[in-house]
Amino acid sequence: MNLDQLIVEDPERGIFRVHRSVMTSEQILALERERIFDRCWLYVGHESELPKPGDFRRREVAGRPLIFVRGKDGAVRVFHNSCTHWGAKVCRLDHGNADSFQCFYHAWTFNNLGQLAGIPDAAGYPKDFDRAALALKSPPKVGNYRGLYFVSFSPQVEPLAEYLAGAREYIDLILDQAETGMRVVAGTQLYTVRANWKLLATNSLDSYHAPALHTTYFSYMASFKGSDYQSETRASALRPGGRGRSLGNGHGVGESAIGGMARPIAHWHPMFGEKAKSEIARVQARIVERCGEERASRMCDTFRLFLIYPNFVFHDVMAITIRYFEPVAPDAVRLTVYALAPNEESKEQLDLRLNNFVSFLGPGGFAHPDDLEAIESCQDSFRSREVEWSDFSRGMRRQPELMDELPIRAFWRQWHAQIMGDKKAMRVDDLPIAGTGGAISAK
Ligand code: FES
Ligand SMILES: [Fe+2]
Repeated sequence: MNLDQLIVEDPERGIFRVHRSVMTSEQILALERERIFDRCWLYVGHESELPKPGDFRRREVAGRPLIFVRGKDGAVRVFHNSCTHWGAKVCRLDHGNADSFQCFYHAWTFNNLGQLAGIPDAAGYPKDFDRAALALKSPPKVGNYRGLYFVSFSPQVEPLAEYLAGAREYIDLILDQAETGMRVVAGTQLYTVRANWKLLATNSLDSYHAPALHTTYFSYMASFKGSDYQSETRASALRPGGRGRSLGNGHGVGESAIGGMARPIAHWHPMFGEKAKSEIARVQARIVERCGEERASRMCDTFRLFLIYPNFVFHDVMAITIRYFEPVAPDAVRLTVYALAPNEESKEQLDLRLNNFVSFLGPGGFAHPDDLEAIESCQDSFRSREVEWSDFSRGMRRQPELMDELPIRAFWRQWHAQIMGDKKAMRVDDLPIAGTGGAISAK
């Protein structure tokens, strides 16, 4: 099949479908690596993971082994974890603190600024041997937005802030919830799902599935005595006022009122217990004081799920999680998940947050396993190659609502443009449809 036929879009007839071979093909994955993962900005880590000089974390981004490190000068850098001598990995621990990295093969030593600081039996090299040229190599672009570090393997990539486009508003909305900054809470969830990475990306932008798929979690929430959940609509996703938006460059968001769910910032629910009520009220009052009623209400009483294209997801729901994923095969994706919390949060609040995190969003929670089972089920059924297309047309011909697939179409348009070899899609938004009220724009 020609690449341009992989997605069929016909706004007049409300058709948007994607050929399922894009989820199973080795050739498509090879193209994705070359035209998407080698060209976009990709998340690598948060500054709070490296509090002290010498702190380091190993990362894998777009198939490259990397070291994310704070040097003795206090600056954060990213290096390829590849010795400039013969190539052995100079860092073999997942995290730690080090003045230097000594390669285990022939013991070349690099300081935490990446400079080649020591060579055993250096007399074997000439006096003018260019050690500077043999420093650890960094990706061509390393950028940071408010402490979130990204790398790009393309020297031509646009500036990070430009790339993030409308996603910046949502990153701000999350980071501003903290008075003294956000931190990644220690502990990582790492797991592999037997599904194409795009099934995970589109699941992360999808609210339509929540009432159908996550009944266990919603029943659990409703089971608390005094829960307002039962008097709410069936799931907060069904409440009016929610919406999905495309945010430019393939990024997208779904945002809605929290409804009968719990939110450590700062929406009390009976599952938190009476004891937590006053603390949550205090947190909420301070946010109102700092950010004003309107913005505070958005932070406390609404949630958002958003994707920074192609592979970085924020869940700002009953906790805040960061997750990023790496394709390992057409039918396998590896996830890394962290919780994010305000630095100033009390121990009791943090406990509530983390319990909330694992009860819904964790791989053993009441909801996330549903998502994983659903996307693995999709992937497995793609063996029936005669069923060729997946439909993503929901809400194409009306003013978009939260459960419509608008941000997912935006993801696919950017994906398709890049697979075709273009830098970005001419447009990521749905086209306005005359006479339907469906004039739909990200801006
Ligand atoms: S490969 Fe690292 S010192 Fe030889
Ligand atoms: Fe879900």
